[in-house]
Amino acid sequence: MMNVDFLIANFDRALRTVAGVQRAQRPSPAEGISEAALDEPTRQEGAALMRVNHVGEVCAQALYQGQALTAREPANRRALEQAGLEEQDHLAWSATRIEELGGRTSLLNPLWYAGSFVMGATAGALGDRWSLAFLAETEHQVEEHLAGHLRRLPASDRRTRAVVEAMRADEARHRDSAMALGAAELPAVAKLGMRVMAKIMTTVSHRI
Ligand SMILES: [Fe+2]
Ligand SMILES: [Fe+2]
Repeated sequence: MMNVDFLIANFDRALRTVAGVQRAQRPSPAEGISEAALDEPTRQEGAALMRVNHVGEVCAQALYQGQALTAREPANRRALEQAGLEEQDHLAWSATRIEELGGRTSLLNPLWYAGSFVMGATAGALGDRWSLAFLAETEHQVEEHLAGHLRRLPASDRRTRAVVEAMRADEARHRDSAMALGAAELPAVAKLGMRVMAKIMTTVSHRI
């Protein structure tokens, strides 16, 4: 049952996400890998790509929180919370990497968060099967997006690549677990709509 403590905990997490104060439970995959000597344009591009990924993780926090709030089955709620914790690692890892590359996180994070929270809660309100379907498709698209970044990032930037690779592996697992929990198949038009939204989000956050 939803209670005040639960709401406060969620609000606290929302503030931490937007403020960029997030601690990872697992060490960063970049740990122990030496920093490459990158020229300035390469560093800036790496930071911009990681800013896009960080925005994706801000959205993931909001989506998972919105959905965990509305999930009906306790098993589904637990799975959403577990995946949400792994997304917190992604959030912290990408923030750290942006800092190392001398970049900054998106100024629009509060907006990304709010929009995604509404989407997550709406998907959740449609029932677990649709909520999981939305989630599975999100994870699938994020996984593809991260694969695209791995093609763009220089081979020499091994620290950034390690973070992106680990995130991609987690997203693939999140998708599998949403499918295993009984996700429905989204209509093609919904998938397309999600791609369009994601394109806007990634294009804007590459700059701002
Ligand atoms: Fe993630
Ligand atoms: Fe994920």
